Amino acid sequence: MSTHSNTSGHHEASGHPTKGSQQLLWTLLFSLVIPVIVIVSLVRATDFGNQPVTEAAHSELAVMQRIQKVGSVVIGSAQHETQTGEQVFKAQCTNCHTAGVVGAPKFGDAAAWAPRIKTGFAALLNSALKGKNAMPPQGGGAFDDFEVARAVVYMANAGGAKFPEPVNSTKK
Ligand code: HEC
Repeated sequence: MSTHSNTSGHHEASGHPTKGSQQLLWTLLFSLVIPVIVIVSLVRATDFGNQPVTEAAHSELAVMQRIQKVGSVVIGSAQHETQTGEQVFKAQCTNCHTAGVVGAPKFGDAAAWAPRIKTGFAALLNSALKGKNAMPPQGGGAFDDFEVARAVVYMANAGGAKFPEPVNSTKK
């Protein structure tokens, strides 16, 4: 019994110091390792933290851009629902052509349009698509070529031309 208890005591005695020194080792290790880990992760947070933040900002920007695009599609519906010449005019061309600003021939002003109409539809369309002097390409709008062509016909016809409704060649 006593031998047994001695043995167990010896085991305990030899076990405890070992466990104790192991625990001490681990404690020491952790008290060194954990601060290092903390420091490293702090450094990472400041060093590489920028990238995720930038990425997050980028994706936020991307989301905003996507939202914006939905908004502009609603305004122009350029990519989805083909707009009539009148719709394109009212959404875009009117900005300059209603008041005749920056030298734009006024909508419905036959005198202003007559010499231009004489150059032919192709020339007018070319000007509208590529821009002319103060007029930016596509009239500065987000409409496709076919829609711009429709707007040219709409405007030119209001100014005295008798251009036929353009045939949709840009859309399938
Ligand atoms: C930012 C102002 C502006 C907007 C917006 C604008 N235009 Fe114009 N447009 C002009 C000006 C300025 C001219 C006269 C250019 C010149 O002859 O110097 C012009 C001329 C034209 C002409 C005559 C071109 C020629 O060769 O004589 C056509 C056709 C025309 N615009 C179509 C359009 C259409 C279609 C739109 C809409 C999709 C549009 N414009 C939007 C400013 C604008």
